Amino acid sequence: MPYSLAEQIEKRQGEQYALHRQYLNTSLARAQAIIGFDKLYTRGEGAYLWDAEGNRYLDLLAGYSVFNLGRGHPVVRQVMQEVLAMERPNLVKMDCPLLAGLLAEELVKRMPPGLDSVFFANSGADAVDTALKFARAATKRPRTLFLDHAFHGLTLGTLPLNGGDQFRRGFDPLMPDFDAMEMNDLEGLERELRRGDVAAFVVEPIQGKGVYIPADSYLPEAQRLCRKHGAVFICDEVQVGMGRTGRFLCSEHWALEPDIVTLSKSLGGGYIPVSATVTRRSIHDKMFSRLDRCQVHSTTFGQNDLAMAAGLATLHVLEEERLIERAAVMGQKLIDGLAALQPRYDLIADVRGKGLMVGIEFRPPRSVGLRAAWAATEAAQKGLFAQLVVMALMRYHHILTQVGGPGVNIIKLLPPLIIGDQEVEAIVAAFDAVMAEAASIRGQVWSQSGQLVKHAVSQ
Ligand SMILES: Cc1ncc(COP(=O)(O)O)c(C=O)c1O
Repeated sequence: MPYSLAEQIEKRQGEQYALHRQYLNTSLARAQAIIGFDKLYTRGEGAYLWDAEGNRYLDLLAGYSVFNLGRGHPVVRQVMQEVLAMERPNLVKMDCPLLAGLLAEELVKRMPPGLDSVFFANSGADAVDTALKFARAATKRPRTLFLDHAFHGLTLGTLPLNGGDQFRRGFDPLMPDFDAMEMNDLEGLERELRRGDVAAFVVEPIQGKGVYIPADSYLPEAQRLCRKHGAVFICDEVQVGMGRTGRFLCSEHWALEPDIVTLSKSLGGGYIPVSATVTRRSIHDKMFSRLDRCQVHSTTFGQNDLAMAAGLATLHVLEEERLIERAAVMGQKLIDGLAALQPRYDLIADVRGKGLMVGIEFRPPRSVGLRAAWAATEAAQKGLFAQLVVMALMRYHHILTQVGGPGVNIIKLLPPLIIGDQEVEAIVAAFDAVMAEAASIRGQVWSQSGQLVKHAVSQ
């Protein structure tokens, strides 16, 4: 009997949360129900999702920045279909696939000077793991420095450079020789680099967890110090790259010339997992140093045709549709629109970002009545107020956002780069309405807190 996926979906639609509770991550499925994110989505297109009842949702999660081009971009979809129809000799492994060569060439064109060699893998963590191995191979040194609040993946290889204790806790012992630095502390950085045992300093040019932006002089100076002390300077652009911040690489905002850049997420056009670690030939050749070490680092699905074709199509669309320039313009409009609300709502401590990577930070309210409510939610779990805002944006405005990181009162917006004035206006209006509700103890925001506090306390 022929297999019909459409029939399966038709028959089983509605069972997804039960299936996940039974066979996958039970805790995650429960958490989604508690915060009202347990929707039955049936369609996604551009910046929007639709549920089984036909309700439309504006998606500011964008798959954690997988959908910079929006969902189902027609050019990428057509290229995916072309690759499948061609029956190309995919993953021969003992050959040099053309599409990997073409994508490497296109990526190198977009890199700062000197970054001319590429390694392809499948995920962001893969790309960071690869960067760390390059740095060790190139320097023969043991230590890695990273920043507080950093996020570089959750594999055992990337966990030791995770700046959040919540992610690290419970998995000891982690790999040794990874040390956290404070953002903007150049003295501390140089003190560590001076010891001469640092292979790499790894940064996200803007941190994903919390949308923390360094002081303007920090990254250029950190790069200079790395050069001076022989350490490899790695910019992890897995989330902030691919046009998200209004430049192809976020590090362009400071004219950085890192030794290694990592990319992933949107490189696959929203269709296929893929990542790239781009470095200098001199570093690349230290890892693949001899014929008998030519496969000392590799991954089975790296360079597969679908991923390479998705990358080529994505780079084409970013340029053709001028999406990077659009991200800069729309991002500024969004940041300005949100920042204009700040004087009206004392709960808003800060609106920050570059391009379409935007963070909104909250602080305790001044009014006595609200202070008690804030204290009660914070006592149950730090950062719970931001979760209430995320819930209200979803429930009353059908907008998907996320809390900016564990234990912080920050929400993060990562819209697809295709959004226009209409979406920017809708986001600002919805946020305005939610903040107006949050200013009243009897409003929609605080009324959701009882259930959330109960679950937080019972964990
Ligand atoms: C900066 C950064 N690096 C690495 C990763 C890990 O990527 P992945 O989840 O694909 O392993 C992420 C994921 O969000 C990220 O934001």
